[in-house]
This record gives sequence, structure tokens and C-alpha cells, in this order.
Amino acid sequence: MSNTLIAPSVLAADFANLQRDIEMINNSDADWFHIDVMDGVFVPNISFGMPVIKAIAKHAKKPLDVHLMIVDPDRYIKTFAELGSNVLTVHYEACPHLHRTLQAIKAEGMQAGVALNPHTNVSLLEDTIQDIDLVCLMSVNPGFGGQSYIENTYNKVAQLKAMIKAKGASTRIEIDGGVTNKNAKQLVDAGADVLVAGSYVFGSENPTETVKGLKELVK
Ligand code: DX5
Ligand code: ZN
Repeated sequence: MSNTLIAPSVLAADFANLQRDIEMINNSDADWFHIDVMDGVFVPNISFGMPVIKAIAKHAKKPLDVHLMIVDPDRYIKTFAELGSNVLTVHYEACPHLHRTLQAIKAEGMQAGVALNPHTNVSLLEDTIQDIDLVCLMSVNPGFGGQSYIENTYNKVAQLKAMIKAKGASTRIEIDGGVTNKNAKQLVDAGADVLVAGSYVFGSENPTETVKGLKELVK
């Protein structure tokens, strides 16, 4: 029996009813809040900033898994710690000094995550995997919710899982983008530990039941 975590992505919530959707996550079988921060530079979209995250943090009763899709994330590490982030994930492609960035995230008391775009090979993490708490494999090109899952992600999960095992690391593997009941089980069988789901959860008729269904599926 696996203990796969489910992290609904707040990006797909109804921002005019944000508190309602936060409470849905609080009261559901979900494990984490996934929070997507986009700067319009690293990705071609802007999501939300500090005031909104502060409001989410105020009501959230589960850990905040913050995914930074921004250039130069080092500038904001302290701010995200102060906002109450539990996991802070930066993009490999945005960090010329990744090792230093990971140390800085941990120094602020957060778990350090690294996200890989679909084109970025997992082997690039060989020298840092022992310092990474979570690898977020992007299964869509980052920037938008509601895109289709990229099939090659299964191979990347398996490759990454083998690397983590070979290095004796305890890194978690998170999958982000296009996750549904159609691919969840196969992803977990390949080695995924955390599934992010945005439109599949919030676009459904009963998000609480959808989260429950996902959790059951990957048990
Ligand atoms: C994409 C974001 C994802 C997104 C997932 O750039 O990082 O977290 O919200 O949304 P769905 O599940 O709709 O693909
Ligand atoms: Zn994300």
C-alpha cells in the first residue's frame, strides 16, 4: 500500500469563491495545497502574488506546496518562508546556482523542491538529488492549467525513481500537469509519490468526491 499524496492545484479554483475552495481542500482527503506562482517571464502567464497567497495561507489547514515558475527565485525565498510555505519548488531551468538555492530554501526551514520542464532530462539532477526533498516532474509545459498529460512522463518517473534508489536518497517525486483518474495509477506504479491535480478536481461536479476517488485509486 502506497501513501501517495494528493495536492489540488489552487490555480484551478474559483477565485471569486476562494475561501469556499480552500475549505473544500481542508475538508477533503487532499494532503497538500499546490500553489502555482507565475511571473509572465519564465512562463507566458501570470497567476497570483503575495496578497493572494497570504489569504490562502490564513485559511489553509494543510501544508503549502509552492511551485515557483519565476526567474531568479532566490530573491523571494525568505518571503515565501514568511508566508508559511512548507515545500518551496524552484525550476531547474531558472537556477544557475541550484545547489546554493537548495541550501537557501532549507536554511529557511522549508523542504526544497526542483521542478523539471518536459524537455529537461532527469539525469541533470544526479549531483544534487541527495539535497532535494522533492522533484516535480512537469507533465505539461508550465504556464497553464487544463493541458493534456505528456506520455513520456512515465519514463521520466521510472528513470528518476531508479536514480533516487541508486543514490540512497529519500526524495519524493511529484507529477504536475494533466493528472486524472486515467493516468494516476500508472504514475504511482512507476514511482510517483505526490500527484498535483487542478482542472480534474475543480472542473468536476463534486471536487471533494473527485479527490476521494483519486486517493482511493492510488492506495
Ligand atoms: C502548470 C501548473 C500546474 C497546473 C496543473 O503550469 O504548474 O500545477 O495548475 O493543472 P492541471 O491539473 O489542470 O493540468
Ligand atoms: Zn504547479
